[in-house]
Amino acid sequence: MAKTAIRTRTDPSPVSSAAPAGAAPAVRVRDFHRRFGDVTVLDRLNLDIAQGEFVALLGRSGSGKTTLLRTLAGLDSAGDQDVTVPTARAVVFQEPRLLPWKNIWRNVALGLPGDVRSRAEAALTEVGLSHRMDAWPATLSGGEAQRAALARALVREPRLLLLDEPFASLDALTRIKMHGLVLSLWRAHAPAVLLVTHDVDEAISLADRVLVLEKGRIAAEERIDLPRPREVGAGFQAIRRRLLGHLGVDVAHAEASRATGESALIAFPQ
Ligand SMILES: Nc1ncnc2c1ncn2[C@@H]1O[C@H](COP(=O)(O)OP(=O)(O)OP(=O)(O)O)[C@@H](O)[C@H]1O
Ligand SMILES: [Mg+2]
Repeated sequence: MAKTAIRTRTDPSPVSSAAPAGAAPAVRVRDFHRRFGDVTVLDRLNLDIAQGEFVALLGRSGSGKTTLLRTLAGLDSAGDQDVTVPTARAVVFQEPRLLPWKNIWRNVALGLPGDVRSRAEAALTEVGLSHRMDAWPATLSGGEAQRAALARALVREPRLLLLDEPFASLDALTRIKMHGLVLSLWRAHAPAVLLVTHDVDEAISLADRVLVLEKGRIAAEERIDLPRPREVGAGFQAIRRRLLGHLGVDVAHAEASRATGESALIAFPQ
């Protein structure tokens, strides 16, 4: 792995909900930039995520969401820039990335010291997969494999959970179940969460705060104060309209398409 100068903070004890005002954020990024060749992808980006806060990140394809997430994960070097994250962090990607030659519990326990089978079993129980712990990855459904990937993240007791479109390849029903699962895991363990998604409704349903990444920076922010579980009422729709506007979507056309059943998912151009 590339050497990274990312600063990590000794992890605080778990918190039960969003961090109290004034507490040190779990994530702090200041004036961050990232270029690939001549192309500047992230440009003086600032970001704070409170301990225990659930943040969703929207942005067009190629806007730099994965680049930002990889930096926070320590998979991409931050150089000597001002990036602070908790030491304990875990990532779930769009594809589950399970090793096909290891059974599920060994995938979950990969790289952990100690009595790893029982820890893997506990995490798999939390995602409803303990009955498949000896199964091979190839025998799991897409949703089960993503639940195994969540268990692999969970077993590391992350204070920061990074999710890069983890539900994008799942069918609509499985995706809704995964939303419920992620929320219940978040409530139980209270990590800070950064969820990258192309689905505006998913972002509003899950997050405390939704951010839009554009031209290398956080260009818009919506705090979601609606009680969970979130119904698609007037408040929800107003936030959706504003976010779609920030994303450059023709809102009237998107809503007409929805009304005619053209798309159950309001996703913006990619
Ligand atoms: N290792 C790399 N080398 C060169 N260019 C890269 C590299 N990684 C990313 N890029 C470029 O940086 C830009 C941002 O990529 P990134 O994967 O962060 O976008 P994204 O917002 O996650 O897009 P998507 O929604 O399609 O996943 C893209 O133009 C991409 O081609
Ligand atoms: Mg991406």
